[in-house]
Amino acid sequence: MENSKENFIIAIDGEAGTGKSTHAKNLAKKLNITYIDTGAMYRCVTLACLEKGVEPDNYDGVDTVLKDIKIEFKREDGIDKVFLNGSEVTSQIRTPRVDSYVAKFAALKNVREKMTPLQREMGKVQSVIMEGRDIGTVVFPNAQVKIYLDCSEEERAMRRYKQNLEKGINSSYEDVLKNIKERHKLETQREIAPLVKAEDAVLIDTTNYTLEETEDMIMKIIKEKIDV
Ligand code: DC
Repeated sequence: MENSKENFIIAIDGEAGTGKSTHAKNLAKKLNITYIDTGAMYRCVTLACLEKGVEPDNYDGVDTVLKDIKIEFKREDGIDKVFLNGSEVTSQIRTPRVDSYVAKFAALKNVREKMTPLQREMGKVQSVIMEGRDIGTVVFPNAQVKIYLDCSEEERAMRRYKQNLEKGINSSYEDVLKNIKERHKLETQREIAPLVKAEDAVLIDTTNYTLEETEDMIMKIIKEKIDV
Protein backbone atom coordinates (compact mmCIF):
# COMPACT_ATOMS: atom_id res chain seq x y z
CA MET A 1 0.00 0.00 0.00
CA GLU A 2 1.24 3.45 -0.93
CA ASN A 3 0.78 6.94 0.51
CA SER A 4 -1.54 5.67 3.20
CA LYS A 5 -1.99 8.86 5.22
CA GLU A 6 -1.18 11.44 2.58
CA ASN A 7 -3.51 13.15 0.18
CA PHE A 8 -4.27 10.90 -2.73
CA ILE A 9 -5.60 11.29 -6.24
CA ILE A 10 -8.01 8.93 -7.94
CA ALA A 11 -8.17 9.61 -11.68
CA ILE A 12 -11.08 8.33 -13.74
CA ASP A 13 -10.93 8.86 -17.49
CA GLY A 14 -13.12 7.74 -20.36
CA GLU A 15 -15.69 8.85 -22.87
CA ALA A 16 -19.16 10.26 -22.27
CA GLY A 17 -21.67 7.59 -21.30
CA THR A 18 -19.21 5.23 -19.65
CA GLY A 19 -20.59 6.06 -16.20
CA LYS A 20 -17.58 8.11 -15.05
CA SER A 21 -19.54 10.89 -13.38
CA THR A 22 -21.92 8.58 -11.56
CA HIS A 23 -19.09 6.45 -10.20
CA ALA A 24 -16.85 9.39 -9.30
CA LYS A 25 -19.71 11.08 -7.44
CA ASN A 26 -20.76 7.93 -5.54
CA LEU A 27 -17.22 6.97 -4.63
CA ALA A 28 -16.38 10.48 -3.45
CA LYS A 29 -19.30 10.28 -1.03
CA LYS A 30 -18.30 6.82 0.20
CA LEU A 31 -14.67 7.83 0.67
CA ASN A 32 -15.59 11.28 1.97
CA ILE A 33 -13.27 13.06 -0.45
CA THR A 34 -13.82 15.85 -2.99
CA TYR A 35 -15.25 15.07 -6.41
CA ILE A 36 -14.04 17.17 -9.32
CA ASP A 37 -15.79 17.05 -12.68
CA THR A 38 -13.25 18.54 -15.09
CA GLY A 39 -15.74 18.35 -17.97
CA ALA A 40 -17.81 20.93 -16.07
CA MET A 41 -14.78 23.26 -16.15
CA TYR A 42 -14.54 23.03 -19.95
CA ARG A 43 -18.29 23.59 -20.07
CA CYS A 44 -17.88 26.75 -17.94
CA VAL A 45 -15.25 28.11 -20.35
CA THR A 46 -17.63 27.37 -23.23
CA LEU A 47 -20.53 29.13 -21.54
CA ALA A 48 -18.40 32.15 -20.60
CA CYS A 49 -17.19 32.50 -24.21
CA LEU A 50 -20.62 32.04 -25.77
CA GLU A 51 -22.12 34.61 -23.41
CA LYS A 52 -19.54 37.10 -24.68
CA GLY A 53 -20.16 36.10 -28.29
CA VAL A 54 -16.69 34.54 -28.58
CA GLU A 55 -16.49 31.58 -30.98
CA PRO A 56 -13.81 28.86 -30.70
CA ASP A 57 -11.96 30.22 -33.76
CA ASN A 58 -11.42 33.57 -31.97
CA TYR A 59 -8.29 32.54 -30.08
CA ASP A 60 -7.52 36.02 -28.70
CA GLY A 61 -11.13 36.49 -27.64
CA VAL A 62 -10.95 33.19 -25.75
CA ASP A 63 -7.72 34.42 -24.13
CA THR A 64 -9.50 37.49 -22.82
CA VAL A 65 -12.33 35.42 -21.36
CA LEU A 66 -9.80 33.08 -19.72
CA LYS A 67 -7.88 35.93 -18.10
CA ASP A 68 -10.21 36.41 -15.16
CA ILE A 69 -12.40 33.33 -15.27
CA LYS A 70 -13.35 31.92 -11.86
CA ILE A 71 -14.78 28.41 -11.57
CA GLU A 72 -15.87 26.95 -8.24
CA PHE A 73 -17.49 23.72 -7.08
CA LYS A 74 -19.60 23.93 -3.94
CA ARG A 75 -21.90 21.54 -2.16
CA GLU A 76 -25.00 23.30 -0.86
CA ASP A 77 -27.74 21.37 0.98
CA GLY A 78 -26.23 18.13 -0.27
CA ILE A 79 -26.36 19.27 -3.91
CA ASP A 80 -23.22 19.72 -6.00
CA LYS A 81 -23.25 23.10 -7.70
CA VAL A 82 -20.99 24.80 -10.23
CA PHE A 83 -20.27 28.54 -10.13
CA LEU A 84 -18.86 30.64 -12.95
CA ASN A 85 -17.58 34.10 -11.98
CA GLY A 86 -19.75 34.00 -8.86
CA SER A 87 -23.03 32.90 -10.50
CA GLU A 88 -24.49 29.42 -10.31
CA VAL A 89 -24.44 27.74 -13.73
CA THR A 90 -25.06 24.09 -12.81
CA SER A 91 -27.83 23.63 -15.38
CA GLN A 92 -26.72 26.27 -17.92
CA ILE A 93 -23.55 24.30 -18.68
CA ARG A 94 -25.62 21.25 -19.75
CA THR A 95 -27.68 22.85 -22.54
CA PRO A 96 -27.60 21.43 -26.10
CA ARG A 97 -25.82 24.66 -27.19
CA VAL A 98 -22.95 24.12 -24.75
CA ASP A 99 -22.93 20.40 -25.68
CA SER A 100 -22.43 21.26 -29.32
CA TYR A 101 -19.54 23.71 -28.72
CA VAL A 102 -17.62 22.31 -25.77
CA ALA A 103 -15.38 19.83 -27.64
CA LYS A 104 -14.13 22.69 -29.84
CA PHE A 105 -13.24 24.93 -26.89
CA ALA A 106 -11.73 21.98 -24.99
CA ALA A 107 -9.34 21.36 -27.88
CA LEU A 108 -7.77 24.85 -27.67
CA LYS A 109 -4.24 25.17 -26.30
CA ASN A 110 -4.93 28.31 -24.24
CA VAL A 111 -7.99 26.70 -22.66
CA ARG A 112 -6.08 23.59 -21.61
CA GLU A 113 -3.12 25.63 -20.39
CA LYS A 114 -5.48 27.49 -18.08
CA MET A 115 -7.54 24.51 -16.83
CA THR A 116 -4.76 21.97 -16.19
CA PRO A 117 -2.95 24.03 -13.47
CA LEU A 118 -6.29 24.84 -11.81
CA GLN A 119 -7.03 21.12 -11.62
CA ARG A 120 -3.58 20.39 -10.20
CA GLU A 121 -4.09 23.04 -7.52
CA MET A 122 -7.34 21.37 -6.44
CA GLY A 123 -5.51 18.08 -5.99
CA LYS A 124 -2.66 19.64 -4.00
CA VAL A 125 -4.67 20.63 -0.97
CA GLN A 126 -6.96 17.63 -0.53
CA SER A 127 -7.61 14.05 -1.61
CA VAL A 128 -9.73 14.08 -4.75
CA ILE A 129 -11.47 11.85 -7.19
CA MET A 130 -11.17 13.65 -10.50
CA GLU A 131 -12.85 12.59 -13.71
CA GLY A 132 -12.23 13.68 -17.28
CA ARG A 133 -10.28 12.69 -20.37
CA ASP A 134 -6.65 13.46 -19.53
CA ILE A 135 -6.48 13.16 -15.76
CA GLY A 136 -4.29 10.04 -15.63
CA THR A 137 -2.17 11.08 -18.61
CA VAL A 138 -1.63 14.85 -18.30
CA VAL A 139 -3.10 16.39 -15.16
CA PHE A 140 -1.95 13.79 -12.61
CA PRO A 141 0.40 11.30 -14.28
CA ASN A 142 1.43 10.21 -10.75
CA ALA A 143 -2.09 9.61 -9.44
CA GLN A 144 -2.19 6.71 -6.97
CA VAL A 145 -5.20 5.18 -8.70
CA LYS A 146 -5.99 5.40 -12.42
CA ILE A 147 -9.10 3.92 -13.93
CA TYR A 148 -10.01 4.01 -17.61
CA LEU A 149 -13.66 3.25 -18.33
CA ASP A 150 -14.67 1.97 -21.73
CA CYS A 151 -17.98 0.91 -23.27
CA SER A 152 -19.27 0.16 -26.75
CA GLU A 153 -20.60 3.15 -28.71
CA GLU A 154 -23.99 1.46 -29.13
CA GLU A 155 -24.41 0.88 -25.40
CA ARG A 156 -23.27 4.42 -24.57
CA ALA A 157 -25.78 5.80 -27.05
CA MET A 158 -28.54 3.64 -25.54
CA ARG A 159 -27.69 4.87 -22.01
CA ARG A 160 -27.70 8.52 -23.12
CA TYR A 161 -30.93 7.99 -25.10
CA LYS A 162 -32.66 6.54 -22.01
CA GLN A 163 -31.33 9.38 -19.83
CA ASN A 164 -32.77 11.88 -22.32
CA LEU A 165 -36.16 10.14 -22.17
CA GLU A 166 -36.11 10.33 -18.37
CA LYS A 167 -35.26 14.04 -18.53
CA GLY A 168 -38.03 14.63 -21.07
CA ILE A 169 -35.53 15.51 -23.82
CA ASN A 170 -36.68 14.50 -27.28
CA SER A 171 -34.01 12.64 -29.24
CA SER A 172 -33.71 9.67 -31.55
CA TYR A 173 -31.33 6.81 -30.80
CA GLU A 174 -29.73 7.29 -34.23
CA ASP A 175 -28.97 10.97 -33.57
CA VAL A 176 -27.52 10.21 -30.14
CA LEU A 177 -25.31 7.49 -31.67
CA LYS A 178 -24.16 9.87 -34.40
CA ASN A 179 -23.23 12.49 -31.78
CA ILE A 180 -21.34 9.88 -29.71
CA LYS A 181 -19.34 8.87 -32.79
CA GLU A 182 -18.51 12.49 -33.66
CA ARG A 183 -17.37 13.21 -30.10
CA HIS A 184 -15.22 10.08 -30.12
CA LYS A 185 -13.42 11.38 -33.20
CA LEU A 186 -12.93 14.90 -31.82
CA GLU A 187 -11.71 13.74 -28.41
CA THR A 188 -9.37 10.96 -29.50
CA GLN A 189 -7.88 12.74 -32.51
CA ARG A 190 -7.22 16.21 -31.13
CA GLU A 191 -3.65 17.43 -30.97
CA ILE A 192 -3.44 18.39 -27.29
CA ALA A 193 -4.29 15.98 -24.47
CA PRO A 194 -6.29 13.52 -26.59
CA LEU A 195 -8.34 10.90 -24.82
CA VAL A 196 -6.13 7.87 -24.42
CA LYS A 197 -5.72 5.27 -21.71
CA ALA A 198 -2.67 5.91 -19.51
CA GLU A 199 -0.30 2.95 -19.73
CA ASP A 200 -0.70 2.23 -16.03
CA ALA A 201 -4.46 2.79 -15.84
CA VAL A 202 -6.73 -0.16 -15.11
CA LEU A 203 -9.13 -0.66 -18.00
CA ILE A 204 -12.72 -1.60 -17.22
CA ASP A 205 -15.08 -2.29 -20.11
CA THR A 206 -18.48 -1.49 -18.63
CA THR A 207 -20.55 -2.59 -21.65
CA ASN A 208 -21.96 -5.69 -19.99
CA TYR A 209 -21.86 -4.63 -16.34
CA THR A 210 -24.40 -2.81 -14.21
CA LEU A 211 -23.47 0.38 -12.38
CA GLU A 212 -23.27 -1.57 -9.10
CA GLU A 213 -20.96 -4.20 -10.56
CA THR A 214 -18.66 -1.56 -12.05
CA GLU A 215 -18.59 0.45 -8.84
CA ASP A 216 -17.61 -2.66 -6.87
CA MET A 217 -14.76 -3.28 -9.30
CA ILE A 218 -13.51 0.29 -9.00
CA MET A 219 -13.72 0.22 -5.20
CA LYS A 220 -11.74 -3.02 -5.12
CA ILE A 221 -8.99 -1.44 -7.22
CA ILE A 222 -8.92 1.65 -4.98
CA LYS A 223 -8.62 -0.49 -1.84
CA GLU A 224 -5.75 -2.45 -3.35
CA LYS A 225 -3.82 0.76 -4.04
CA ILE A 226 -4.55 2.99 -1.07
CA ASP A 227 -5.49 2.74 2.57
CA VAL A 228 -9.06 4.06 2.56
O1 DC B 1 -17.45 14.91 -19.51
P1 DC B 1 -18.18 16.03 -20.29
O2 DC B 1 -19.04 15.52 -21.41
O3 DC B 1 -18.93 16.96 -19.40
O4 DC B 1 -17.01 16.88 -20.97
C1 DC B 1 -17.29 18.04 -21.70
C2 DC B 1 -16.24 18.24 -22.78
O5 DC B 1 -14.97 18.56 -22.21
C3 DC B 1 -16.03 17.06 -23.72
O6 DC B 1 -15.98 17.56 -25.05
C4 DC B 1 -14.67 16.53 -23.34
C5 DC B 1 -13.97 17.71 -22.72
N1 DC B 1 -13.06 17.33 -21.63
C6 DC B 1 -11.72 17.36 -21.88
O7 DC B 1 -11.31 17.63 -23.00
N2 DC B 1 -10.85 17.06 -20.88
C7 DC B 1 -11.29 16.74 -19.66
N3 DC B 1 -10.40 16.46 -18.70
C8 DC B 1 -12.67 16.70 -19.40
C9 DC B 1 -13.54 16.99 -20.42
